[in-house]
Amino acid sequence: EEPARPRTAAPATEPAYRPVDRPRRLRATPALRRLVAETRVAPADLVLPMFVREAATEPVPIGSMPGVVQHTTDTLRRAAVEAAEAGVGGVMLFGVPATRDATGTCATDEDGVLNAGLRALVAEVGDAVVVMSDLCLDEFTDHGHCGVLDAAGRVDNDATLVRYQEMALAQAATGAHVLGLSGMMDGQVGAVREVLEGAGYTDTAILAYSAKYASAFYGPFREAVDSQLRGDRKTYQMDVANRREGLREATLDLAEGADVVMVKPALAYLDVLAEVAALSEVPVAAYQVSGEYAMVEAAAAQGWLDRRRTIEETVLSIRRAGADVVLTYWATELARWLR
Ligand code: PBG
Repeated sequence: EEPARPRTAAPATEPAYRPVDRPRRLRATPALRRLVAETRVAPADLVLPMFVREAATEPVPIGSMPGVVQHTTDTLRRAAVEAAEAGVGGVMLFGVPATRDATGTCATDEDGVLNAGLRALVAEVGDAVVVMSDLCLDEFTDHGHCGVLDAAGRVDNDATLVRYQEMALAQAATGAHVLGLSGMMDGQVGAVREVLEGAGYTDTAILAYSAKYASAFYGPFREAVDSQLRGDRKTYQMDVANRREGLREATLDLAEGADVVMVKPALAYLDVLAEVAALSEVPVAAYQVSGEYAMVEAAAAQGWLDRRRTIEETVLSIRRAGADVVLTYWATELARWLR
């Protein structure tokens, strides 16, 4: 029997073991690492979510999302121009109305805060970036749910589809290029596609929030849009436990005519993202949501994480998992770093 190998490293002149494969060769210099990087992030891959608040005279900071504000129409325009100048690929607009009601009337008012904001964005930056809308009722209803309620107080799927169709027509009329259907009602993509085609909006694209989970990571967003919700969204958003169901949702949305499918949140759902990317024939997006943003900002503010490295790593990881497009509140800043 041979003697046991010594546990201490052998002297460099006479190594105990010589590896045949040496992956470290390609990590030796920044130039080599750059050359062989399998995934890249470009400003054009990024979409900036933005909030516009009705009747605001000053931008209103969102406490749990330091650096993000509810814009006035003026500051919205300015921030969109800055995003465009940084090379960001798109902006996605959410509205914060002054008044809410049971059916979310403001959402379909052509002068409502979201539709007016979309029109302003299209006029200001519509040639330079893709203007996207959030198509959902939760910002506009007094009960805070993403749809209308039936007599028993449950979210009524098919009655909600009618409201989404009306919203889609109002948003398409603003000139928005992409409608982001985030409500998680069954049939929402088919219903909206049908009404858009019927009205001649054949070029208005649909980004489907296909696999949208009932996630704790949306916490800060509730503050961002002053949401009125009591309870939860678990009868329409997906159960965090389910991977296969996410694939089913994406498959249904593709069959109904989605132009882009999305997974949301991003970082805790990279497995779902990778599988959706493997099956999708259309571009795949992922949404790095408010809680993902808040988590990194909070740790960075404490000095516990290197802010820039962490932001770059999370977005790169989302791209690596299969996202073509990443929605992130850091879009403009990250785009500037990338240039
Ligand atoms: C619904 C919607 C939400 C988000 C985007 N669209 C909130 C929710 O579903 O509860 C969350 C985005 C984020 O947390 O950054 N209109």
